[in-house]
Amino acid sequence: MTENKRPLIEPIERFRGLFAEAKSIPRDRLPEPTAFSLATVDGSGQPSVRIVLLKNVDERGFVFYTNYESRKGRELLATHRAAMCFHWQPLEVQVRVEGVVETVSDAEADAYFASRARGSQLGAWASIQSRPMASPSDLDARLAEMEKRFAGGDVPRPPHWSGFRVVPERIEFWKNMPSRLHVRHVYTRDGDGWSVTQLYP
Ligand SMILES: Cc1cc2nc3c(=O)[nH]c(=O)nc-3n(C[C@H](O)[C@H](O)[C@H](O)COP(=O)(O)O)c2cc1C
Repeated sequence: MTENKRPLIEPIERFRGLFAEAKSIPRDRLPEPTAFSLATVDGSGQPSVRIVLLKNVDERGFVFYTNYESRKGRELLATHRAAMCFHWQPLEVQVRVEGVVETVSDAEADAYFASRARGSQLGAWASIQSRPMASPSDLDARLAEMEKRFAGGDVPRPPHWSGFRVVPERIEFWKNMPSRLHVRHVYTRDGDGWSVTQLYP
């Protein structure tokens, strides 16, 4: 390992430390510490961005759940590329992640789906996410249909609902500093570890 080469776990541990700090902040100051902006891109190069919630992070990457037939789902299945951005305002920290996207295993998705509230489970069946809705009552009608379909039993995970894992290739930690002389450390994947570079703010 060269002098600047860092172990695989280093930026993940750094992220986890900040994430734990963010989660310990009272909800009135930081209502949703797991929320991040997720950017995807379509076949023409048009980017799109939306908020999703981080459900797991470990040395393999960053996991969130969604509908695979949504706009983001279709784009991720086609391009296998994503960017993420966290902003924990009370910590004055931003974390940016870029990488390759893979699908989580059925077992992993099943376990997470089973932990969700029944209402959210039924919602995952009822919502044809990102598709046009002819009438506002259509969603209620679909929900009622699903309530009937799964009445008295467990709600299984819909086949089109699962998780993605962003396997990071670049992670940047940004910390606010006086006079906008912010500190930026960028980790870039380098063989079996990471290279770290500091960038001008
Ligand atoms: C705070 C917040 C959390 C959200 N979490 C998720 C999520 O974890 N998964 C998801 O599919 N959509 C989530 N959404 C909705 C997305 O932002 C988006 O509207 C939806 O997924 C459709 O996006 P798409 O049409 O680009 O696929 C969340 C929205 C907000 C504001």
